[in-house]
Amino acid sequence: SKYESYGRAGDSKEDFDIISYADAKSQIYADFMHASHAFIFARRPDDILWDLYKARGAVLMQMRFDGLLGFPGGLVDPGENPLQGMNRELEEEIALNLSLHRLVESDHVVSFVNKKKNIVLHFYGKEVSIEEFKKIELGNLQASDYGSESMGIIRPPLFTMGDGFRGLPAFLSNNFAGNARQELLMGLEHFNLLTSQEVNKAIDSWMDFTS
Ligand code: GTP
Ligand code: MN
Ligand code: MN
Ligand code: MN
Ligand code: MN
Repeated sequence: SKYESYGRAGDSKEDFDIISYADAKSQIYADFMHASHAFIFARRPDDILWDLYKARGAVLMQMRFDGLLGFPGGLVDPGENPLQGMNRELEEEIALNLSLHRLVESDHVVSFVNKKKNIVLHFYGKEVSIEEFKKIELGNLQASDYGSESMGIIRPPLFTMGDGFRGLPAFLSNNFAGNARQELLMGLEHFNLLTSQEVNKAIDSWMDFTS
C-alpha cells in the first residue's frame, strides 16, 4: 500500500522503518526510548450517514497537548515493557477500564524504529462493540490526563464526500504526531475497515488536493 512509501517521500521530518515485534522488544533496541499507542475501534457495518456514506467504523484518536493529532498512548516508563506502558497510558489518557479492555500481546499490529531519534514506536489495536466504544468515549472526560495531555477525543471520518476531498482525505491533511497518520491508514487496512484500494485513493486525494 502507498502508506509504505509516502511517509518517506512526503514527510522528510520523520524516518521510520518497520521492524518485527520480536526485534523491537529485543536487546537490539534496549537503549532506545519506546512508546506505545493504540487503535481502539468499533465496526459500524450497517450505518449509512445521511443516506449517502458508509460509516465503516468508529476509530478513537485525540487532539494532543501539542496541537497534533495522534492515538492515545505514550512513553514506556523504566521497568515497564511496551504492553504494560500501553495499558497504563490508556488508563491515564482516556480512563480505559482495564478490567474490561486490557490490551494483550496479540493486539500488537506493527512496530517502527526511528534510528535518528533513537525511538521505537509500538502500535496496538483493539476492537470493541459500538456500545462499548461509546462508553469509552464518555469515560474519556474522567481521565486524569484529560485537559492536559489529551485535549479531547475525535473520530476520524472514514468516508470521502462527493468533492473527492472532504472526509478522510481532508482529515489526512492535518498534522500528526510521530507516524500516527501512517498508523491510521495501516490500522484501517489491517482491520478491514477500508480496502487497500480505498486507502490508496484517500492518500491520492489528500495529496492531489493539498499539493
Ligand atoms: P508524557 O507522559 O507527557 O511523557 O507523554 P506521553 O508519555 O503520553 O508520550 P506521547 O504520547 O507524547 O508519545 C511519545 C512519543 O511518541 C513522541 O515522540 C511522539 O511523537 C510519539 N507519538 C505521539 N503520538 C503518537 C501516535 O499516535 N503514534 C505514534 N506512532 N507516535 C506517536
Ligand atoms: Mn501520556
Ligand atoms: Mn500520550
Ligand atoms: Mn507518559
Ligand atoms: Mn504523562
